[in-house]
Amino acid sequence: MAANHLILLLLALVALSSSPTAFAADPNQLQDFCVADNKSNIFVNGFVCKDPNLVTENDFLIRGLNQSGNTTNQLGSTVTPVFVQQLPGLNTLGVAGARLDFAAGGLIPPHTHPRASELLIVIKGTLYVGFVTSNPDNKLFTKVLYEGDAFVFPQGLIHFQFNNGETDAVALASFGSQNPGLIVIANSVFGAKPPISPYVLEKAFQLDAKTVELLQAKFLLTN
Ligand SMILES: *[C@@H]1O[C@H](CO)[C@@H](O)[C@H](O)[C@H]1NC(C)=O
Ligand SMILES: *[C@@H]1O[C@H](CO)[C@@H](O)[C@H](O)[C@H]1NC(C)=O
Ligand SMILES: *[C@@H]1O[C@H](CO)[C@@H](O)[C@H](O)[C@H]1NC(C)=O
Repeated sequence: MAANHLILLLLALVALSSSPTAFAADPNQLQDFCVADNKSNIFVNGFVCKDPNLVTENDFLIRGLNQSGNTTNQLGSTVTPVFVQQLPGLNTLGVAGARLDFAAGGLIPPHTHPRASELLIVIKGTLYVGFVTSNPDNKLFTKVLYEGDAFVFPQGLIHFQFNNGETDAVALASFGSQNPGLIVIANSVFGAKPPISPYVLEKAFQLDAKTVELLQAKFLLTN
């Protein structure tokens, strides 16, 4: 074996042995729980723990997910998140969820969760869903989901959910983070505050100035 091949092999072995574990969620907590104290003004990576003696069952409970979300809006969809902001008991636990409601033709537009993969389970209606892989492939994976189907969106990848049926649709999502985050592509790009320079967007999206102006006006309003 040539010397440079041997060096490459050694480097590969070092790289493998230095990451013996794959992490599938936020790092593990070191105590039973750390219920979020959202009144603390100390900033940490997550939330400060509430005094365990003051923690009650209610810190681990959220009710009302049997309630339909209001889909009377531009997109015909609504997300009811169950993240650490809504359920303080999720702090440090590395899981979260959401209820998604869609009117017929409703859309959750292309977006990403920077900190979590998402498992989506359709409990009513049908959804056309998909995600796109990263550069250089940008390969689209799509599927039509029916009641009882589940689909997974890998962490960080752009994805969407569209109700292509003629009735309402409902899905439940779970995430591998207490705080998965949400970046809606159109809102971030065209609705940034203050706005991204139109010249940047014209060049990036190969659009004329008028179209960029129109899009920025639209998304600045909805943001
Ligand atoms: C803190 O969490 C509670 C839910 O336990 C919520 O009602 C309240 O609005 C939150 N406060 C802030 C400042 O986020
Ligand atoms: C949701 O469940 C609660 C508790 O069982 C019940 O009181 C409420 O009426 C239900 N709401 C809907 C919209 O079904
Ligand atoms: C749903 O949202 C729309 C638009 O904000 C509002 O006009 C309507 O009253 C809401 N419906 C319910 C049942 O809350």
